[in-house]
Amino acid sequence: MSSPAGTAVVTGAASGMGRSTVEAFLRRGWTVVAVDLVASTAPAGSPGTLIPVVADVRDRDALTTALDAALGPDRAVEVVANIAGVYPPTTLDTYDEATYRRIFDINVLGVLNVTAAVRGRLREGSSVVNFASTDAFTVSPGQLLYGASKAAVVMLTKSLALELAPARIRVNGIAPGWVATPGNAATGRMDAAAASIPLGRVAQPEEIAEWVWLLSVGEHAAFITGETLMLSGGAAMR
Ligand SMILES: NC(=O)c1ccc[n+]([C@@H]2O[C@H](COP(=O)([O-])OP(=O)(O)OC[C@H]3O[C@@H](n4cnc5c(N)ncnc54)[C@H](O)[C@@H]3O)[C@@H](O)[C@H]2O)c1
Repeated sequence: MSSPAGTAVVTGAASGMGRSTVEAFLRRGWTVVAVDLVASTAPAGSPGTLIPVVADVRDRDALTTALDAALGPDRAVEVVANIAGVYPPTTLDTYDEATYRRIFDINVLGVLNVTAAVRGRLREGSSVVNFASTDAFTVSPGQLLYGASKAAVVMLTKSLALELAPARIRVNGIAPGWVATPGNAATGRMDAAAASIPLGRVAQPEEIAEWVWLLSVGEHAAFITGETLMLSGGAAMR
């Protein structure tokens, strides 16, 4: 890929697909502002520059202050990857208001807060990628509120794409299915999940991260906006 190295803001940067996305951009010499509740680290020998920002995406003011401190007054942002998310199970029987707030505030409000915090730094050609889930499109038993929050991310992605199109800023989404993240591995359900997926396996975080790259600065990305790409090995289709 011949695009010049720029600056990416990645949330959920300390774990799973966020961490893999950080690494994908660092590998290509980018500067990555890595937002998470804990400090993110770069793999040894990465050509890029990691700037860890410890912030909660729910807190708009504190987040904006932290991002402004990390980015300085003039730095443009070419890519925003809104990956921080939580997926505690809920049903009509088990949900409570605190869990509702946590899921929607991190998964939905967090996307808005981060995008708004850097809006003034996004230029023509900049790109936002929001993480949804296949659960936004197909019902996952026991994920009542999570699925609803990710459906909201899909619609936010479309609305923001329309709002930012006149500025030639693109906004897209990624909807992963089963991914071999540490959290999923700990459930002990990965083998059963793989057996249920038409392509016969779960995804690796690194291959999902490559789609963040392709959708944002990939060679042929310039005409896609408002789309949420399903990456499920055929487990969910629409
Ligand atoms: N793991 C999967 O199979 C899967 C499938 C579909 C969609 N997703 C979505 O992909 C995204 C990444 O999932 P993952 O499993 O790689 O993540 P993960 O659980 O491994 O890591 C999430 C990271 O987000 C951070 N985070 C949580 N709350 C935060 C907050 N308030 N502010 C800042 N950071 C916060 C956590 O500290 C953590 O480092 C999430 O949005 C998730 O909903 C995951």
